[in-house]
Amino acid sequence: MAEKIIVTGGAGYIGSHTCVELVKAGYDPVIIDNFSNSEPYIVSRIEELAGQKISLYEGDCADPALLREVLGSSDQIKGVIHFAAFKAVGESSQLPLKYYRNNLLSTIELLEALAENKVSNMVFSSSCTVYGQPDILPVTEETPQKPAESPYGRTKQMCEDIIHDFIKSGAEIKAAALRYFNPIGAHQSGLIGELPRGIPNNLVPYITQTAAGLRDKLTVFGNDYDTPDGTCIRDYIHVVDLARAHVAAINFLNGVGETNFYETINVGTGNGNSVQEVIDTFEKVNDLNLSYEIGPRRPGDVIKTYADVTKSRKLLNWQAEYDLAEALRDSWNWQKKLKK
Ligand code: WQD
Repeated sequence: MAEKIIVTGGAGYIGSHTCVELVKAGYDPVIIDNFSNSEPYIVSRIEELAGQKISLYEGDCADPALLREVLGSSDQIKGVIHFAAFKAVGESSQLPLKYYRNNLLSTIELLEALAENKVSNMVFSSSCTVYGQPDILPVTEETPQKPAESPYGRTKQMCEDIIHDFIKSGAEIKAAALRYFNPIGAHQSGLIGELPRGIPNNLVPYITQTAAGLRDKLTVFGNDYDTPDGTCIRDYIHVVDLARAHVAAINFLNGVGETNFYETINVGTGNGNSVQEVIDTFEKVNDLNLSYEIGPRRPGDVIKTYADVTKSRKLLNWQAEYDLAEALRDSWNWQKKLKK
């Protein structure tokens, strides 16, 4: 019988791609999702790609009763990948209590339920946002964290500390906090991808919606930064590479001998690309002209960041395989299929 892995937020962007990769690796994902930022039809798409039924529990992963129902459903549950969280940087400043309640409480309730049911492996969805603007690049896991620029970023820093403190208190949990850089792209089939609700906050979905005619034009938030072309630099990682890093993290934790263990691991490509390079690459790889203009800087933007990938390569025996062009080709393929 395949080992089961609970995937909170498993119908979401990164969660759905991770469920597909978990099945390919021989695991059986069990999704908990309240569809607050995802769509139920995505579960059918995951099943189509996985070639099997996927267990789904619809509900809030901060609900203690639901967590105990799921954890009690099988003795084959060996771990959890905790994606479920609100993640819109701008919205978190307007609705901080919504973000603190949801993102912190779901993590606390999950930790308690895991310890109670003696399920030890936990992969946590963290973010490079915990670093703020790093002084030295590339960013390693030892790079000092700066005060986060948003309540969203603070919830990621706090959740890492909550998990680590619980483990330091003696809880028999083995956890890996994966600090993602910038997830982009979509499954090559075009069946699953990013589904931003309303106006996209992030660069690539805004680009694909502009190219699809859903937005008039992209505004580049500033081109007067201290970078080669004046636009901000990020480490854009294909979502399928990111999904595979989660499977590698589960495998890694399975092999950890200690009963309680905590590591933070950067997950990126190790390369930095500017906003202008993303636009130029998108146009080239998809053979189209994008409508865009240069606008004012966006407050709080980090100027330049990209990952040191040494630890992920060493501990997870994983590295990103897709490049920026492939990710932008897959993003556009997904957007085109969405329109239909
Ligand atoms: C990337 C670059 C913008 C939109 C955030 C969170 C991070 C993660 C990913 C959740 C920046 C520029 C963007 C636009 C633009 N979120 N941009 N015009 O801010 O690096 O990271 O999203 O997990 O935790 O912090 O990503 O895609 O918003 O911006 O010029 O319409 O694109 O200024 O330089 P960011 P982003």
